Amino acid sequence: MCGIVGYVGKQNAVAIILEGLKRLEYRGYDSAGICVQKGRKLNLIKKAGRVDNLSKEVAKHRMVGTTGIGHTRWATHGGVTDANAHPHVSSDGKFALIHNGVIENYAQMKAFLLKKGYKFKSETDTEVLCNLIAYHYAKENSRTKGQSRFVECVRKTLRHVEGTYGIAVLCVDFPSEIVGARKASPLILGVGEDEYILASDASALVSRTQNVVYLKDGEIAHLTPKNFFISTLDQADVSPVVDKINWSVADAELGDYAHFMEKEIFEQPAALENAMRGRFSADGSTAQFGGLNITPGEFRDLERFMFCACGTAWHACLVTEHLIERFARIPVEVDYASEFRYRNSPLDPRTLFFVMSQSGETIDTLAALREAKRKGYRVMAVNNVVGSSIAREADGGIYQHVGPEVGVASTKAFTSQLLIGAMIALYVARMRDMSFSDGVQYVEALKAAPALTRRALAQAPKIKAIAKRYAKYQDMLFLGRLSLFPLALEGALKLKEISYIHAEGYPAAEMKHGPIALVSESCPSVFFAPKSEIFNKIVSSMQEIKARKGPIIAITTEGTELPEGLADETIFIPECHEAVLPIVAAIPVQLLSYYIAVERGCDVDKPRNLAKSVTVE
Ligand code: F6R
Repeated sequence: MCGIVGYVGKQNAVAIILEGLKRLEYRGYDSAGICVQKGRKLNLIKKAGRVDNLSKEVAKHRMVGTTGIGHTRWATHGGVTDANAHPHVSSDGKFALIHNGVIENYAQMKAFLLKKGYKFKSETDTEVLCNLIAYHYAKENSRTKGQSRFVECVRKTLRHVEGTYGIAVLCVDFPSEIVGARKASPLILGVGEDEYILASDASALVSRTQNVVYLKDGEIAHLTPKNFFISTLDQADVSPVVDKINWSVADAELGDYAHFMEKEIFEQPAALENAMRGRFSADGSTAQFGGLNITPGEFRDLERFMFCACGTAWHACLVTEHLIERFARIPVEVDYASEFRYRNSPLDPRTLFFVMSQSGETIDTLAALREAKRKGYRVMAVNNVVGSSIAREADGGIYQHVGPEVGVASTKAFTSQLLIGAMIALYVARMRDMSFSDGVQYVEALKAAPALTRRALAQAPKIKAIAKRYAKYQDMLFLGRLSLFPLALEGALKLKEISYIHAEGYPAAEMKHGPIALVSESCPSVFFAPKSEIFNKIVSSMQEIKARKGPIIAITTEGTELPEGLADETIFIPECHEAVLPIVAAIPVQLLSYYIAVERGCDVDKPRNLAKSVTVE
């Protein structure tokens, strides 16, 4: 949440920062701002609304400089106004600051600063931080350990801060320098040729460099035109490790698609190939993972798995639960990360803990990971963004390798999480009761997932036509059973988040215990009704909806015949192995939600009130 960019170099900082903000806009899009330093002058422009709004405003002014910071906001403290937009400037005019995170003790600090005569123009916690830096700067006169006074006053301030932050700061007395720091909010440093870029994530800097330093919590980066230095809050110097980003700027561009969500839906066959590449054993009977850091023997001795995640990733955990219990016969518990972190639930000592997170920065998932580690459990992460906080703090993990996911509504990250969940189930099952030949069959089924997904995607024109007919409704139910119950939850989430249609996901048979009261001509139901041993039970549930005049969109497997006249619309997906079914079944609900949202004229990639990567509680 919130995107931050800082640039120090020889080029025009304005263009680079605005481009970076455009790429970071998916992190928050309430308002945006930029501050460029020219000598001892800070030139600030900030506006409520999108980055395009800001760019238009910037174009009206002569804004030049080779050092600057920019921000795109997802509001936490204070409404969406020009005044609350970042950067904030201290009341003495010496500092400009951008911030991602929440300063929890800002009220006490504000009261203190007000007494000292500091003035505030906004309602934000960020402005308090900026003024506190100014306060320490005014007090601090000496240079400590060769670090500049600029760095020292930021360090001192951050020692008083409770909460989370990724920040970048300018100071009028240090032209061409930026100080950045992070705690539980992501911040990476791009190391370019004669230039350094600080950013919330790689998409803002990958067009200029692929060399990056992933800053850790409690680290402070000091950028100058010729070098950069990293130290800790405790003043220890840090030797930076420069990593390489393994994707290019083209991966984060729209190409011929209208929206990132559409692009990412259609990228899924390739994304699944990437997620499974090199992850099957040479004998083709099981999965293998390079980064688990746990021996097969330790894995075999486990008694239980616990999975924690949020949102769509939580749905992927529910499917994984089903597959592990079904094929490996080990009990699995799934919890919302936000609940687990406060619930203090008793865990069996032989439990292996997993978190799933596309971004690797979701604060609740990160907190759940930390809580599990605090209790002495080993924690594995299924995660897409390399070098993320979760990837770094986990004891081992599995990268999704699906490239940047820009659309706020998760699609390709979800199906790759389903795939990895299915591979974990296979890995454990083969250590227990699954036979060699069943393992080989399972592996072959997973290898077919990209091609089957492609076949499901071929239904897009038909689904688009259905979407046109159903875009007018205000309520929808999504119903499925067993491994497709989480897909019903996911279908409902996808639809509501991008089209603002009220939607609920339920196990199909559970619908009788309450939600059926909603059923009428004006509340359609999307049914997952694939061929299975409980097909007839699902058909009975559909009859109950039909008897109450509820329109039905059925998603069923090719070759399956539904009773005449039962479904108003039928979407076919290819028949496939149980482990692959949820992946293939995800495609029609993703497409349906996408086309309905487009039909309703919604801003698909930037749904209201949402942001990708939820880094605040
Ligand atoms: C919905 C969606 C969110 C995320 C959730 C967790 O389409 O994208 O529900 O799944 O915010 O995000 P990550 O996976 O980054 O932890």
